Amino acid sequence: MSPLDIGRRLIAQAQHIVVFTGAGMSAESGVPTFRDAGTGLWAQFDVSQLATPQAWAHDSELVWRWYAERAAGVRATEPNSGHHAIAALARDRRAAGGSVRVVTQNVDDLHERAGLDEVCHLHGSLFAPRCDQCSRPAALDAALRAELSACPACPGRVRPGVVWFGEALPIHAWDYAEAAFDTADLVVVVGTSGVVHPAASLPETAALRGVQVIEVNPEASELTRVNLRIKTTAAEGLPLLFA
Ligand code: APR
Repeated sequence: MSPLDIGRRLIAQAQHIVVFTGAGMSAESGVPTFRDAGTGLWAQFDVSQLATPQAWAHDSELVWRWYAERAAGVRATEPNSGHHAIAALARDRRAAGGSVRVVTQNVDDLHERAGLDEVCHLHGSLFAPRCDQCSRPAALDAALRAELSACPACPGRVRPGVVWFGEALPIHAWDYAEAAFDTADLVVVVGTSGVVHPAASLPETAALRGVQVIEVNPEASELTRVNLRIKTTAAEGLPLLFA
């Protein structure tokens, strides 16, 4: 039996599925990943100049422009068939009394635009800008404007709503993710290198609890050792896995 056939059987038997996604989930929509050789964002840009609190303090204009460009880039793309397959599985399983919860490391909104009404963004969102002092949410269109804007309520400035290296994950998102993984009877990991913690520890902890972890990735990752890997891409593999 192929890994895909085994995976389909596990999906059919599962009641509470967690889908854990990384940048590879959106690659076939044209959104660059971070670490793919040559094309990854960290191969083209210096993370220390763009994705840390120190970078923001040093050159907010540069950081803001980079994230606004990424937000505009995401808005110019569409969810791929993998995003749609996850949303369809969530609808079907909810109708049958089960659950599918999506915990993503991604900061794009493609899961939502594919029809998911609940997505846990562990690393924040390009579309949730907020004040860097009082954390007041800013208007969504601020995310797409190239110039910095002031907070209307305090002397702060509107910052990208993403989690930078060295920052804590949003506690509400982490609590949601832990609870989802704690009650899952199957985990599907899609498109992540599994190198960034604490996010990557979630599927590892589930595997230690005896939960089956299926990985959809054309390449091996840091999580491959704990799961059944289906060597395919998100857009090609998920419609087959969830059919
Ligand atoms: N389908 C499935 N997987 C894919 C595809 C695809 N079409 N294309 C690439 N991949 C896989 C790669 O093989 C790799 O394992 O997606 C993974 C992408 O890994 P990264 O670029 O490291 O992205 P990710 O794991 O999401 O990074 C985690 O790092 O920089 C931080 O905050 C950022 O959330 C991000 C975190």
